[in-house]
Amino acid sequence: MSVVRPPVVTVHLQTDWAASSFANDVRAGLSAQPRRLSPKWLYDDRGSELFDQITRLPEYYLTEAERGILRDSSSEIASLSAATTLIELGSGTSDKTRTLLDAFTATGQLERFVAVDVSEATLRGAAFDIAASYPGLAVEAVVGDFTQHLDRLPRGGRRVVAFLGSTIGNFYADERAEFLAALFATLEPGDSVLLGTDLVKDTGRLIAAYNDSAGVTSAFVTNCLAVMNRELGADFDLDAFSYVAQWDPALERMDLRLRVDKAQQVRIPGAGLDIGLAAGDEIQVEISAKFQLAALPALFTDAGFAHARTWTDPRADFALTLAFR
Ligand code: AVJ
Repeated sequence: MSVVRPPVVTVHLQTDWAASSFANDVRAGLSAQPRRLSPKWLYDDRGSELFDQITRLPEYYLTEAERGILRDSSSEIASLSAATTLIELGSGTSDKTRTLLDAFTATGQLERFVAVDVSEATLRGAAFDIAASYPGLAVEAVVGDFTQHLDRLPRGGRRVVAFLGSTIGNFYADERAEFLAALFATLEPGDSVLLGTDLVKDTGRLIAAYNDSAGVTSAFVTNCLAVMNRELGADFDLDAFSYVAQWDPALERMDLRLRVDKAQQVRIPGAGLDIGLAAGDEIQVEISAKFQLAALPALFTDAGFAHARTWTDPRADFALTLAFR
């Protein structure tokens, strides 16, 4: 008889981590030129709810495309990777995880699932649910920041690290190279990475995906001002900004910014910052890098990985790539 094994939870973040690194990020980013903010702070409760709505927008093709690839190709991914441990970075609570877990358990190869996320509450809930659904599977939850704690990933077995949802698109080129190098350094030969990337396509569709007609993306990006007002005692006038989503053809990325409509002096006491914003000034809140299908193998080989295979949806909107350490 199989038994439900309770998840093992490891915490690598201090309890005040979120508060202190938020203040530091805001201080550094908003005093820099051009002003910028890290997209990781978009996901408070309200932001997470808005992002969930984004994934169900007709214009936002990414989630459905990736889900389709996983439905069609998870068995191949499982057998090709030959992994006995599935590690998911930034896992949240997604149903995509279960598609992968179903395929990896169907072959009988999977021994362990490791979920890594910064949100301890979300992670604990998800780990318990997964442990209950997959009896006999060892489930571990690692509370950590995947830009900082990759060297703390659990060792042992043959591991595949899944980083889905085009989250890597949020990284600037230098951050992306740093992330892949850190991943390469922490993995053993035979381990692999499964990476979800969005693909370059018709500009109109890209802009529509980030400037939806219902205004959900605008609310999602603007919410970062409300988070700073609440968490850092800032006094941003939320009505004095417009949301701007632009395609940068040279850098092949969407730039999501907030443009100042009305000049204002903003106090951000929690970050020890006072800034003067002129009309027309912009704050870069998020980038979403897109890739050429033909350029994907080099993304991995440049970081030392061996490209194994890339799968796309029928429209080639999105790609999943498996590459070996
Ligand atoms: C969660 C980073 C993949 O870049 O498409 C969606 C975030 N921002 N709409 C993306 C996002 C605005 C999303 N990622």
